[in-house]
Formats: sequence, C-alpha cells, structure tokens
Amino acid sequence: MKTIKLLSAIFIFAIAFTSCTLDDEKIDSAVVAYNNADQANGGIMYDKFWASESDFDQSNANIATLSAKGDFFRCKQCHGWDGLGNKGAYINRGPKTSRPNISSVNLYEMGQSKTAQELFDGLKKTVGRRSISTDLSTYNPTTGNVAEGDKMPNLTELFTDAQIWDMVKFMKEGMMDVSQLYDATYTGVYPTGSMAISNVGKDGDAVKGKSYYNSNCAACHGADGTTLNGTPHVIEGYTIGQFTRKKGNEVQHKIHYGQLGSPMTGEFDITVSQMKDLYKALANETDFPNAN
Ligand code: HEC
Ligand code: HEC
Repeated sequence: MKTIKLLSAIFIFAIAFTSCTLDDEKIDSAVVAYNNADQANGGIMYDKFWASESDFDQSNANIATLSAKGDFFRCKQCHGWDGLGNKGAYINRGPKTSRPNISSVNLYEMGQSKTAQELFDGLKKTVGRRSISTDLSTYNPTTGNVAEGDKMPNLTELFTDAQIWDMVKFMKEGMMDVSQLYDATYTGVYPTGSMAISNVGKDGDAVKGKSYYNSNCAACHGADGTTLNGTPHVIEGYTIGQFTRKKGNEVQHKIHYGQLGSPMTGEFDITVSQMKDLYKALANETDFPNAN
C-alpha cells in the first residue's frame, strides 16, 4: 500500500513537473521569438506581405496568384491602415469584384488587449481561413458570391513562424493609435458610412514637426510638399499636406513603413509623438498648400 502511494506520488510529481517544463519551454521560445521579431518587416508585410521590401521569398511560387488579386491578401485591405476595420476610415470602402469586404474586427484594439502568444495563435488558425488555392475569379458582391473571398487567408500556407511573429510585433508595438493623430467623425454604417478628419496633429508641436519634415522629407517632396525631386507633383491629385489632411489614416503607415515600390523608405523608429508633430506641421495649409 505504502509503495503504491509513494509511486503515485512520484507519478503525479513527474506529470506536474513535465507539463510545467513543456509550458515553460513554450513560453521561453515564444519570448525569444517575439524579442527577435522585426517590427519593421511586420509593418511592411501589413501593407503588402509579398512586396520586395519585405523578407518574403521573392521566388515563392504563389507570388503571381497574390499579385493578380492583391486586395484579397493585403492585411490593410481587410483591416484598414488604421486597424479599425469597417468602423474606421474604410467605413465606405465597399466590395468590388477586385476587392473583398472590410472586416469588422478592431485589430488595433486586439493588438493592445491580447497577449503576443494569443495573437500568434490567432494568426496561425487554419479553421475558417481561405486557402491560397481558392478560386477568386467568381467573387461578386452583386450576386452574393462573397463568403469565401471575404475570409482571412490561411497564413500558414504563406508565412514562416518568424514572419508571423513579425506581424505580432507590428500589431503590439507598431500600429499607431490614430485617435492620437487626428479626430475622426464616423457617420452611418459600412459600406455607406463616411469619415471626416479634423484637428490633424492634435496637440503636436508644429515647429518640431516642420524641422522633422525638413530633415526627412523635403529632399524629395520639396519645402512645401508640392513637388517631387524639384518638379511639381501631386499624388492622387493631392499634395503631401493635402494627402495628410484627407487621408491621415494612410499617411502615418506610409511614413512609418515606406511607400512600397518607391524610393521612399520607412521612418521605422518614428514615435507617436514625432508623428503627431509632423501631422501638426502638415495640417498647416499655408506652409503645405493644396494643389491648385
Ligand atoms: C480578405 C480579408 C482579410 C485579409 C486579407 C486579412 N484578414 Fe485578418 N481577418 C479577416 C476577418 C474577416 C477576420 C475575422 C474572422 C476570423 O477571425 O477569421 C480576421 C481576423 C484577424 C485576426 C484575429 C484572429 C483571431 O481569430 O484571433 C487577426 C489577428 C488578423 N485578422 C490579422 C490579419 C493580418 C496580420 C493579415 C495580413 C497578413 C490579415 N489579417 C489579412 C479578414 C482578413
Ligand atoms: C527618397 C525620396 C522620398 C523621401 C525622403 C520621402 N518621400 Fe514620400 N514619397 C516619395 C515618392 C517617390 C512617393 C510616391 C509618389 C507617387 O506615387 O506619385 C512618395 C509618396 C508619399 C506620400 C503619398 C502616400 C500614398 O499613399 O500615396 C506621402 C503622404 C509622402 N510620400 C509623405 C512623405 C513624408 C511625410 C516624408 C518624410 C517623413 C516622405 N514622404 C519622405 C519619395 C520620398
């Protein structure tokens, strides 16, 4: 009897010890992976994960499929530059045959409230995810054929674990809280709602912002944001100041992680406070005029 008791005590101890070791190992390796993760790569991937600026293998056989239907794969398309999904700036970005519906998930909030491990596990999910082999040519919002296309892609078919950790780090540390950069009023509901931006730069320091601009942007965009490399230039009809005042949701990401496919690389170390200062400077229509 005594022997059995002793044996079972050893057995229980062994189980407790083993499972504890396994958990610790899992946690330790997760901490190491998170610490080693590259937030800048995560931010670039959020825009377009197969871009040549990211560390995505440029010889990956899926690149042609990804590029052909890019908006079905870009995180920013379904979750928004602001991470606010269909309740943020993309409140009016309805689906077309070339792009899916915006997700209702608040990714910014999720990045703040979930642990890194929970985010990692969420990104590794395969249930309810869309395979890369899904035929997207039949996606059509008018005929209602949208369910499969609107699904989050199955990232395990596309990413290494290290790349998933990069995304996690971006979500936890790189996504900016846009409410610190401007006030937004959202009216109505997706996909027919609208957004109006005001108070760009909030209580940022315009003098510091102007000096940041002069050091980091003016060489390409000119002193007042109306040129590119010395020639008058607008982007989608907007000057740099105007673009920021209209699309403050997007500009912060481009400044932070770069305009992919162009010589504009990201200011990967920019802080929220520096971004606020820069926005405050760019909010000034006299210094950074609209296109005429
Ligand atoms: C085609 C649209 C689409 C794309 C592209 C997309 N997502 Fe999603 N995502 C969704 C939808 C819809 C949900 C909510 C339902 C779900 O979890 O499947 C979601 C959920 C999530 C979640 C929560 C997961 C969980 O269950 O905890 C995270 C995190 C996330 N997405 C991050 C990303 C990242 C990072 C990318 C880019 C690599 C991305 N998404 C690309 C549509 C998309
Ligand atoms: C090395 C040159 C270079 C530098 C430095 C640079 N940019 Fe750009 N920027 C570009 C080019 C090129 C484009 C793309 C122009 C186009 O598509 O017509 C661009 C695009 C943009 C856009 C439009 C983004 C969009 O979504 O289309 C904004 C806004 C912008 N830059 C702001 C800035 C700010 C602010 C800085 C400084 C923090 C900066 N840029 C630094 C070259 C530069």
